[in-house]
Amino acid sequence: MNRSSKMKARRRRTLFFAVVIIAVLIVGFLVTKYEDTTAQAPEGTVAPPKATDAAAPAETDKPGEAGKPSNGSGGERAVIAQPESIAVLVNKQNMLPDDYKPSDLVYPDVPFLFKDKIDKRKMRSEAAGALEEMFDGAKADGIRLAGVSAYRSHTTQKSLFDGYVKKDGLEKAMTYSAYPGTSEHETGLAIDVSGSDGKCAATDCFAGTPEAEWLAGHAAEYGFIIRYPQGQESITGYKYEPWHLRYVGKEIASDIASRGITLEEYFDAVPVNN
Ligand code: DAL
Ligand code: ZN
Repeated sequence: MNRSSKMKARRRRTLFFAVVIIAVLIVGFLVTKYEDTTAQAPEGTVAPPKATDAAAPAETDKPGEAGKPSNGSGGERAVIAQPESIAVLVNKQNMLPDDYKPSDLVYPDVPFLFKDKIDKRKMRSEAAGALEEMFDGAKADGIRLAGVSAYRSHTTQKSLFDGYVKKDGLEKAMTYSAYPGTSEHETGLAIDVSGSDGKCAATDCFAGTPEAEWLAGHAAEYGFIIRYPQGQESITGYKYEPWHLRYVGKEIASDIASRGITLEEYFDAVPVNN
C-alpha cells in the first residue's frame, strides 16, 4: 500500500469513529429525554389537592385529605377555615372540619312532619328566626309549610350517606346525598321543607307544588336560597332539590335570586362538575 492509500484508509477510519461517536451521543440524548417525559409518580402517591380559590368568607387553608372516596371533583377538596360563617360555602370541594358542630343550635318554632325534639329539628339561631318568619309569611299567603329535616351531625350524615351508597352505589348516591363533611345540613343553616301534609317530602314530586312555587318566589325575602336549582347540576354537583333551603342572609339571598345564580357562582367558585 502506497503512502496516499494509507492516508485515505486512515481518514476513512477517523470518519467512521467520528460517525459512531456522534451516533452514540444522539442515542444517549434521546433515551434521557424519553425517560424524563414518561416518568411516573411512585405507585400509591396521590396528587396534592389544590386549595380552592373561591372568594367565600369560608377561606380554605388546608389541602383536602387524601384517601377518601372521590368527591366527584377530582379530589380537590379543602377544609373550610371558617365553618361558622353564615355565608359558608360547603360543597364537594369545600368540606367542614371533622369535629365541627355549630355552637348555637336551637329548635325553630315551626311545625315539622314529626313531633320529637331531636337534632334534625334544630337550626342555628339566626337561621331558625328567619325560618319562623318565612313560615309565617307563607301562612299569610295560604301556604302551609312543614320542616322535614334540618341539622344533621357528621355521624348522622355518614350513616345516611352510607345507606344510600349501599342502595344505589357511590356514583348515583353522590348526585343526591353529600359525602359526610360536605353536607350543608351539618352547618345548621339548611333545611328540607315540604307542605304540611308531608306528601312529596324531599322527593322529586315536590317540584311544581304550590309550596315549592311559593318557596322559589319568596324564600330570598327571608334570607334563604334554593341551594340546588334545576339545570345547575354541573355547578352545584347535585340534582334539583326544590325542597333544600339554605340560609345565607337576606342580602346574599336576594342577590342570588335576582341574578338567578348558584352559591358557587356568587363566590366565583369553581363549578363542582359532578
Ligand atoms: N341532599 C343534600 C345534597 C345533602 O345531602 O346535603
Ligand atoms: Zn337537604
